[in-house]
This record gives sequence, C-alpha cells and structure tokens, in this order.
Amino acid sequence: MKELRKFVVPEVVFGSGARTLCSRYAVNFGSSRPLIVTDPGIIATGLVDETAAALRDSGLSPVVYSAVSSNPRDSQVAEGRACYLERGCDVIIAVGGGSPMDCAKAIGILAANGGEVTDFEGIDNVRSPGPPLVCIPTTAGTSADISQFAIINDAARRLKFAIISKTAVPDVALVDPDTTYSMDPYLTACTGVDALVHAIEACVSTASSPMTDLHALEAVRVIAGNLAAAVRNGKDEEARTAMMFASMEAGMAFSNASLGVVHAMAHSLGGLLDLPHGECNAILLNSAIDWNYAHARDKFTAIGRVLGIEPGAFAEGGGTAIIDWVSGLLETVGIKPGLASRGVTRETIPELARNANADPCAVTNPGPLDEATIGELYERAL
Ligand SMILES: [Fe+2]
Repeated sequence: MKELRKFVVPEVVFGSGARTLCSRYAVNFGSSRPLIVTDPGIIATGLVDETAAALRDSGLSPVVYSAVSSNPRDSQVAEGRACYLERGCDVIIAVGGGSPMDCAKAIGILAANGGEVTDFEGIDNVRSPGPPLVCIPTTAGTSADISQFAIINDAARRLKFAIISKTAVPDVALVDPDTTYSMDPYLTACTGVDALVHAIEACVSTASSPMTDLHALEAVRVIAGNLAAAVRNGKDEEARTAMMFASMEAGMAFSNASLGVVHAMAHSLGGLLDLPHGECNAILLNSAIDWNYAHARDKFTAIGRVLGIEPGAFAEGGGTAIIDWVSGLLETVGIKPGLASRGVTRETIPELARNANADPCAVTNPGPLDEATIGELYERAL
C-alpha cells in the first residue's frame, strides 16, 4: 500500500445481449462510417452480419476489415489503417478474440499518429489516442477488450511485440457471454487457461496492488470452478457466463498489474513459431510457478487458498501443490504438455530466450530473470 498504483478500465457492459448495444454506442460517438475489424472465423459465425445489420438499421454505413490472422501481423495493421483512412471511417468496432481486438487497437493508433506500428512498441510510446474503439470479445480469455496491451507480430524480426499504453484501453467493452458458445472445446480450454495465467501472473506481479489482487484472485476462483464444465459442455450457460466474467476480471487485474515470464515466453514463441497464445501459456505455466514460488510465497499461498489448498500444503513442497493442481486442470481440459511436440527444439531456445528477456512482461516477474534462466524454463517445458 506504500507505492502509488493506478487502475484503468473501459466502460464495461456485461451480460447476455450486451453486444446488441453496439450500434447505440457507435451513434453516441457520432459515427457515420464505423470500421468493423474481425477475422474469417468470426465472419462464419454470423456475428459480423448481425452487428453490421444493426449498425445499418441505425443509419450507419459500416465497413468490414476481416483479414486478421491469429498472432496479428504488422502488415495487417497497415492494411486496416489504409482501409480506415481511405473509406473515411470514424469509429472502430472490434469483433472477435484477442487477434482482431489487438489489430483494431493498433489500427486506431496508426490512424491517429501516422508512422509504422513498431514506432509505438513498449510502454507509453503513443502520443495521441486513436478513434473511439468498441470491443465485442468472443473468447473468454484474452481480455484485450479490457486491457491497455496490444500484441502485434513483427514479421521481419519474427517476434511479437507489445504496445502498452492507456490509449490502447478501449472506450467500451460489450462483454456478452452469448458470443462464446461457438468456441470448440480446445479453443475454450486454451483461452480459459490464458485467462487463468493472466490472473496468476497479475497476482504475483511486482506491480500488483490490493485493487488488482481483488480481481485476480476472484478470477482464479471462478476459472477453477467453471473451465472444465465449459470445455465439457459448450452450451453450459452458467459455465460460459462464469468464464466470461472471470476473463473480464483477470483482464482488469493484468491490464493494471502487468504480467510475467509466462507471457514474455509465450509472446516469443508466438512470434518465432506462430503457436497459439493460450496453448503456449498453458505449457509454460508450471515451470514459471516453480521458478517464481520462492519469490512470491505469500501470493501463491493466497492463490492456493482460493483453489482450496490449505497453507499447510506449502510447508514442504514449495509450489508443488499448485503445480499439481495446474497439471490436473490441463489434463482435464485436454491440453498436452511439451513444447517439443509443437516444434520447439533446443537449437531455437537461445533466440526464444533472448526475445522473451526483452519483452516488457518480463519486467514485473517476481523471480529474477536473465536469458540463461529463461532458457532453462523453456528447457523444462520441452
Ligand atoms: Fe494472454
């Protein structure tokens, strides 16, 4: 409580049907031609058609940019910016998971500031805020609709870099659990574990605070109670709603407390090998807990408490009790361990470790880090 801490979140509407407020917000922002940023998978669900129709019914003329891939690329940001400017757009609406939302944030930043997207890499390097941004998240995990992070893949350097800025916080997050029913079990599992890692890393972060702990620990509790059910039955309304709520809470925590070595390492993996973000986090989590436990013992005890692990269980075994719980969860939701089976080799580890060590998420990790330590953590996750 001795250090200054800020807490920034967008205006949030949570609940079934929240997405239908999109056109009202666009009108209130004075929009006549909003740009919808999305991806082909979301187009296939019909959600973009529904959103565009509602915007047209309100007298607006929406434009759609849908060429966003997973691990969104700098070239897609440039394309989206060109689309926004050439078509005379005035508001951005992101519909989808973390990739369209991160791409939308970067498009807005480029539209307002010019230059290249890499000019804004790092912390607080955005001068002017972008146009109004409304997010409709469709996965219960990334929380890009809440956070001040935008993660973009630099194709030339083969790494993912972070733009971290208050200007990247969306204006409005319409967090609607109904959008998550179309996720298959594996995507549900990977995005749900991403949210769990957000909550755990925010909780043990050196920039955490009582405000962020409140949301982080509640997110852990709700994910522990609902992720397996959401994976088992994608139509389980209670589990889907709980997971969307937990993801939002984890987002509020990590956006303000930042993250740690798991995300630094996952960004590096996603950039070099184009691996799915949530899957990377899941595979890396336990080696990071093992390394960090001694440096954030009280926080891990608090996490254990919300998982129903008694403090006495930590007396002898370090973080083993939590590591065992994580292993059990990953087995239940069907995420297999092992980076080697995903194409990571010992030869790639030095480059992965170098990039991860330079990632801003590494700065707030509780355990001390350098390239050698991060390399060992990759080795242990092979
Ligand atoms: Fe994440």
